[in-house]
Amino acid sequence: MARHRRTLYWGLAATVWCSVAASVVPYWSGRAVNALERSDWHGSRVFLAWMLTFTAAAGLGRYLMRNTLIGLSREVEREQRESLYSFLLARPFAFYERQRVGDLMSRVGDDVGTVRMATGPGLMSFLQVLSILPVTLGLMFHTSWRLTLAVMFPFCFLALGFYIIGKWSHMVQQKLQLAFSALTTFSHETISGERVVQAFGLEEARVAQFGALSRRHAMLSMKQSVIFSAYAPLSALIGGASALVLVAYGGSLVVKGVLTLGDLTAFTGFLVALAWPMMSLGWSANLFQRAKAGQERLDQLLQSPEPSLPPAVAISLPEVPAALELEAVTHRFETGRGLGPLDLALAPGDSLAVVGGIGSGKTLLLQVLAGLREPHSGRMLVDGEPLSDQTLRRHWAGLGWVPQDAFLFSDTLRMNLAMGRPDATEEEIWEIARVVAMDDLIRRLPEGLDTVVGERGVILSGGERQRTALARALLRRPRLLLLDDALSAVDAETESRILENLRGFLGTATLVLATHRVFVAETCARVLVLEEGRTIQVGDPESLAAQPGLFARLKRLQSLERELVRGT
Ligand SMILES: Nc1ncnc2c1ncn2[C@@H]1O[C@H](COP(=O)(O)OP(=O)(O)OP(=O)(O)O)[C@@H](O)[C@H]1O
Ligand SMILES: [Mg+2]
Repeated sequence: MARHRRTLYWGLAATVWCSVAASVVPYWSGRAVNALERSDWHGSRVFLAWMLTFTAAAGLGRYLMRNTLIGLSREVEREQRESLYSFLLARPFAFYERQRVGDLMSRVGDDVGTVRMATGPGLMSFLQVLSILPVTLGLMFHTSWRLTLAVMFPFCFLALGFYIIGKWSHMVQQKLQLAFSALTTFSHETISGERVVQAFGLEEARVAQFGALSRRHAMLSMKQSVIFSAYAPLSALIGGASALVLVAYGGSLVVKGVLTLGDLTAFTGFLVALAWPMMSLGWSANLFQRAKAGQERLDQLLQSPEPSLPPAVAISLPEVPAALELEAVTHRFETGRGLGPLDLALAPGDSLAVVGGIGSGKTLLLQVLAGLREPHSGRMLVDGEPLSDQTLRRHWAGLGWVPQDAFLFSDTLRMNLAMGRPDATEEEIWEIARVVAMDDLIRRLPEGLDTVVGERGVILSGGERQRTALARALLRRPRLLLLDDALSAVDAETESRILENLRGFLGTATLVLATHRVFVAETCARVLVLEEGRTIQVGDPESLAAQPGLFARLKRLQSLERELVRGT
């Protein structure tokens, strides 16, 4: 910040220098004309030399001013964008459930840009006006206070006009920014879901919806342009009125001998010098209005009610697997659906399968256990301690989480696998590939581990993506592994093989897996059956299979299914 302040002071100094030098130029031109009137050739040449010197000084000042102030605004923009990005990455799960990606993109891109325009070009013009006005007005008053008051009178209307237009444009600007964000949100969603759009023949409808949003954006942009275009004629009109006063009233003062011809020439120069800053005042006022609207939207984002996540720090993990405990934990949404109240205890090295129908709360339970969702009531203990800013990062450092929708980054397979363990060796990566039964696949890929998997891993099949996500978690050698239906897209035979390998590889790590398949649940020591977010059965798989209930029913159905498949 101190560095910026220094640059700002330099920029300020250059602006004042440039403006003062530029304002003094008409003064010397007036004196040169006066000297010419007296036929003082030598004097007029000296004055013209001064005029040239100040013009050159103004040019140099303008160059320095632009360099420092525009450079500063770019630097501020970069910092603002980066801090916004860090802010977004420190938001918890709940924040992203309220936000739309397109809207966030428009804030990080467009709104930060409007703030830059104000801190750079806007501030520069404003400072120029501030420094040109007193010098020029001082010299004008010094030359003739009567003529100054007369020509400045119309300028007051300019300020009033700009104020009114500015207010109006601010209102339109706010709507315009919302319209732009709606447009980006809609197009982002359509492009992400482009396959669904095409397969369902929704192109026309989506194009029509996009057209409506785009028309609204264009309409508001045009309205804004109409408002903007009022600035120039207003300035020209008022500049013209001032010129008229100058010629009529100033001319009469010259005729009366109160004013010299040189003074009148100087006045013409002063008015020309004032015209541009006055016009840019309107422009910069508008930039400030836009920036205000942009900053308001950024502030709304920055004032998210959720506290920031604790910063990532280097952590030394306990050697033993994680122990987890849930005490009357609930996580229910406004719809009433969700999880809990639920009690659960997992000793280090335990394995638990979570079974239940669609929407029974399996994913939510795993997200709570992962520390990604905070319980709305009750609490979770990890290694006997409640989750807090200190313990959350330790919990995550030892966590291997495989979400239900395997998300991959558009990078190489190697990078996707090793992202949780950047120091992993080639052998380790291949070992993991064998555990998740994808070593054959990697060998078949044209560039092996260095194959780029495309956005979200498009070049891989669902099952391949799932296995990559599983390998990514395993490579961290977690002390707690959470698998959320992590192999649902893999055939039963491969799944059995992977589960077998997994046990050998994981050693004693604590394991919780959510699944729809009974034979997968049977690989765990304990099974928890969920319905509507509550536990309806819990116990070892043999005793649950022997009791009447959902688990036994599922087992019967799935055994029948398997027999049928084997029979065919
Ligand atoms: N962000 C959310 N906002 C509102 N309701 C939600 C949200 N996430 C989940 N739910 C609701 O919570 C319930 C449990 O969801 P959850 O994803 O845990 O189900 P699940 O058991 O994992 O289902 P599946 O077998 O389909 O994966 C569902 O009824 C779902 O509609
Ligand atoms: Mg789920």
